[in-house]
Amino acid sequence: MTKDWTTKLIHSDAQVPEGFRSLVTPVHRGSTVLFPQAAAANDHWNQHEVGYTYGLYGTPTTLELAAKVCELEKGFRTLITPGGQGAIALIHLALLKTGDHVLLPESIYGPNRKLVNDVMRRFGVEASYYPPLAGPAINSAFRANTRMVWCESPGSVTMEVQDVPAIVEVAHRHDAVVVLDNTWSSGIFFDAFAHGVDITMQALTKYIGGHSDLLLGSVTARDAATYERLGETHQLLGCAASPDDCSLALRGMKTLSVRLKAVEQSAYAIAQWLQSRPEVEVVLHPALPSCPGHEIWKRDFTGSTGLFSIVFRERFTKEQVLAFVDALQLFEIGYSWGGVTSLAMAYDLHSPKRPNYGSRIVRLYVGLEDVDDLKADIEQAMKAAIGK
Ligand SMILES: Cc1ncc(COP(=O)(O)O)c(C=O)c1O
Repeated sequence: MTKDWTTKLIHSDAQVPEGFRSLVTPVHRGSTVLFPQAAAANDHWNQHEVGYTYGLYGTPTTLELAAKVCELEKGFRTLITPGGQGAIALIHLALLKTGDHVLLPESIYGPNRKLVNDVMRRFGVEASYYPPLAGPAINSAFRANTRMVWCESPGSVTMEVQDVPAIVEVAHRHDAVVVLDNTWSSGIFFDAFAHGVDITMQALTKYIGGHSDLLLGSVTARDAATYERLGETHQLLGCAASPDDCSLALRGMKTLSVRLKAVEQSAYAIAQWLQSRPEVEVVLHPALPSCPGHEIWKRDFTGSTGLFSIVFRERFTKEQVLAFVDALQLFEIGYSWGGVTSLAMAYDLHSPKRPNYGSRIVRLYVGLEDVDDLKADIEQAMKAAIGK
């Protein structure tokens, strides 16, 4: 048919050469997905089963990232969410119902705790917290209605390494699923499914993205039935991730091995050196014996990454600890981690159920800067803090 130029802007006959080959996954953007005939239209979320139906459920860019994360984690299948916290929310909302009880470690990532306390409780889900080092003793925390147990190993800020296989063993006896926040190990240094975990999530925002320029999350299921439940809820919550962010994450993944090795080496060197500093009471780095659960890390993990914490000696005031963080010149002050830049953040831990670190705990993320420069930065900031 003949077309006016305005129609041609939308329905063009212009041709481009075929056969472009590149090393890079194209960014497939799209809400509408075209069907060849009216009868072929379908709104099912599982595009692995029915083909592409709607951009909300993933374009080839999103699904390639999902497949690659799944391959690394050795799960059944992975869903991508718009952030790590979105992945956490998806898991709770997909698998819990009114009257269920969920168990979380005291060391769980703060917004996960808040979601459970503020939102899930409103929907009639009970929650309670167990000591992260409980291991098999978690048994006494179970109730008749416990359906889900969270692990996060090592724990946020306080870095306790959990005995995940022991927790799995008890949870499965009680018919509860075990979910692991596997962000610290980037899904690489802890083989969650081999250790019995049912569902893993990661903030891809951290190491997979690797450059502090995106927010993404992943949820990986061990089996098809769990994946179905998660996938349906993913659709209904509208958890679409941006293909542009997924393309950045796919690029980040290509250098993940070298970045992880580099931050592992640098963080371990700095953590070891910090042990000998007179200002430091304890270094909470899973690869050091001073970290709670270190023996479990040795048994279950194949490496460590760039995030750990230090606790200043009791004589240090909150003001001095904050002055230390302020005096750092290479370590920037900011949340999150997993990028190329070293970061520091001071925390306040005053709950009677948490270790007695008070305001003396600082979390460090070691990036890709030179190790000696980073040590010199910490040394000068310690001197400056003591002077306060
Ligand atoms: C252990 C852990 N899990 C989950 C998240 C949430 O990830 P996001 O910031 O992508 O929502 C974070 C973020 O800091 C985290 O540290």
